Formats: sequence, structure tokens, C-alpha cells
Amino acid sequence: MIDRANKRVLISRIFPEVGVERLQSAGFTVTAWDQDRPMTQDELIEQAKQHDALFCTLSDKIDAKFLGECSHLDIISQFAVGYDNIDIVEATRLGIPVGFTPDAMSNATADIAFGLMIATSRKMFFMHKQILSGSWTSFKPNANLGMELTGKTLGIYGLGRIGMEMAKRCKGAYNMKVIYHNRTRNEAAEKQLDAAYVAFAELLAQSDVLSIHCALTADTREIFNKAAFAQMKPTSIFINTSRGLVHNEPDLIEALNAGTIWGAGLDVTNPEPMQPDNPLLQMENVSVLPHIGSATMEARGKMAQMAAENIIEFYRSKHVPHIVNP
Ligand code: DGY
Repeated sequence: MIDRANKRVLISRIFPEVGVERLQSAGFTVTAWDQDRPMTQDELIEQAKQHDALFCTLSDKIDAKFLGECSHLDIISQFAVGYDNIDIVEATRLGIPVGFTPDAMSNATADIAFGLMIATSRKMFFMHKQILSGSWTSFKPNANLGMELTGKTLGIYGLGRIGMEMAKRCKGAYNMKVIYHNRTRNEAAEKQLDAAYVAFAELLAQSDVLSIHCALTADTREIFNKAAFAQMKPTSIFINTSRGLVHNEPDLIEALNAGTIWGAGLDVTNPEPMQPDNPLLQMENVSVLPHIGSATMEARGKMAQMAAENIIEFYRSKHVPHIVNP
């Protein structure tokens, strides 16, 4: 039996208390970073050297340099479904299991994708700014026109857990036709949502709303670029709630300015944080949020519990319930 008090867990950010409490009540010695900023990588390395397990998230750079200096870690437990901040190949080579928190935020993130779609189609963010700047002077019969979503085609790139939830919302609310592109076909989704699998080029060409729900990998990095936007409808809306690096930002700005696509709703940007003078923030048909897809009390609480359970169960049985690199 492992003496848990001898196992020191480093918690890299201020997370929902439930995760810290769960680890403490399981008997671990916990150190929680208490500043409202991520540690620098040097600070993280320095701290991690004195601990056995790391509870971290996407603002922590767990690359080859970090892993080289902290190869003693028993487990890395990521508070997120995405783990592109972690060099998984290197962690696996070093024999370090990496846990993550899938599905905890599927509803929350799909709500944000759905909200961005509606906000963009009706220019809500821009219209709100008009009020703040005193530009609401009268009812204008032929101005501020958005577009309706009923019966339109929703394209999903990455029809996994979050993509499914987005598709369900769009089908239920607007009877949208669902098409998708994945590395592998999702036959359950095809049955449940009457979704049609299409080639990437078809997805681009047919979608009225294209919503991105893939992981960031070498294959998906900047896959939405000038060439991809050029194949989309001039009336289409691009929604990204996955990772900002999946789209090329200058190409997106150019596509919006040139009318190659109609609008964009982004919960993720490249880089993050987006700077306040970014031209996207001035555009009428663009809605931007500061990466809040999973930011509900329910989702973040569940994520904290899952990340804690991944550590607890690993020390209990060597089995990580939600593992990236089995
Ligand atoms: C994730 O889980 O990967 C989100 O981006 C943050 O919750």
C-alpha cells in the first residue's frame, strides 16, 4: 500500500477547490500555486522537481525540456480534454502516464459553439458595441441585417463528444442538416443525428455553418487556411471552439475582409490572449470570446474531480481511468 502522505502533488493553477480537497482527503500532500497567473516554465520545473505528481492545464508547457528535467514524475494529470501543451510522445517514452478529462465539458463547450453561431449570424457582439458607443439612433428597416439558421447545413469538423452535442443542438433548434468530416466515420452519430459523412472538400463547399471540434495535432494545425476558406460559401460562418492554431488567423482575417466567408465565431484564438487591437474585434460579423468553452461551474467542477481521480486511482491501482497514453 502506497503511503499517500509521502506523495506530493503539485497543483499548477488555482483550480476549483473540489479537486484539491479530493486529493487532500485521499491523504496526499498537496502544494497549490495560488497566484492568478500561470507559472513560468522555469518556476514550474523548479516546483515539479520537488513533487511526485503534477496536476496541470493547457497554460502549462510540458514539453521535452520540462520532461527532461522532471522525468521523475509518476503521473501528469491534465485538467482539460485537449493536451496539445504536453509532449505526449516524450512522456510516453519516459513511461509517464498522462491523464485528461474527456466529456466533462462537452455540454458547456457545445453551448458556447451554439451561442457563437447565433451571435455571429445576428451580429450581436457588434450591435452591443453600437449601443455602448451611442450609435443606436433609430430603428433602421434596412440595416443591421443578419441571417437565419433554420434548415441550413451544419458542417462539423471532428464529430466526437463535443461535436455531437453541437450537432444535437443545431438539429433540435433549427432542424439543420448535419454533415461531418472525421479521420474515422462515426456511425453512431450517423444513426442518431442522420449525419452524413463527407470528404473534407465537400464539408467546406456545403457547410452554411462550419463548426470545428477537432484536437490540435500536426495534421490539423492551420488546416483552416487561405486554401480552405477559398472553398467555403461566401455566406458561410466559421466557428472555432477547439484550438486557435487549427485556423490561420491572418488568412481568416483576409477571408472575412474579402467576403470569401461571411462571419466567424471564435472561442479560441492564435495567440491567446488575443490583443485588444486585433482587427477581428472590429468586424461586424465576428464574435470572439476568451476561451471559456468549459467555463461553467458544472464542467470545471467535474474536470477538477476527474483530474484528481486520475491521480488517486493511479496510486491505488496503477490504472488511470482517463488516460491519453495507455
Ligand atoms: C479543454 O478542455 O481542452 C478546453 O479547451 C479547456 O477546458
